[in-house]
Amino acid sequence: MAEDLTYDQSLNRAELYANLLPQVASLVLGEKNLIANMANVSAVIREAFGFHWVGFYLVEGEEELVLGPFQGPVACTRLKKGKGVCAAAWERAETVIVPDVEAFPGHVACSALSRSEIVVPVKNRQGDVIAVLDIDSASPDDFSAVDQQGLEAFCRCLTEEMSE
Ligand code: SME
Repeated sequence: MAEDLTYDQSLNRAELYANLLPQVASLVLGEKNLIANMANVSAVIREAFGFHWVGFYLVEGEEELVLGPFQGPVACTRLKKGKGVCAAAWERAETVIVPDVEAFPGHVACSALSRSEIVVPVKNRQGDVIAVLDIDSASPDDFSAVDQQGLEAFCRCLTEEMSE
């Protein structure tokens, strides 16, 4: 099976998300291993959009997130509940967009190059947050509702393939 992405570099971001969604769905189709699917989804996003860092943190117990599959520079291995953007998205169970990371109280700086960030919760069929998708951009104010919509759709694909 060919695994290459096909997309037109001239597409705007909304068009690119729309173009990639069926490819993401097909990439994870029939594969129930969440780690394998997260690895490929992070690769798709980094390749298509070129963000500084793209990856997943997995919920571990009640208090911590632990680093999962990612693309980009090395990152913090564990994040505690109550501090930072990833923990905020986990606790609120909703997407958090941070236009300026330095203005977010408690932001955890894994990379000095990060300027803006979006974190999308990954929910299981029961609606529990089991992981978060975290994306850092080296450009300020790089994320909008377009990214939120596109990335939330990618995250839904991930858990649709999980077993009950
Ligand atoms: N900035 C995140 C930490 C993870 S790194 O960006 C990869 C946070 O504040 O939770």
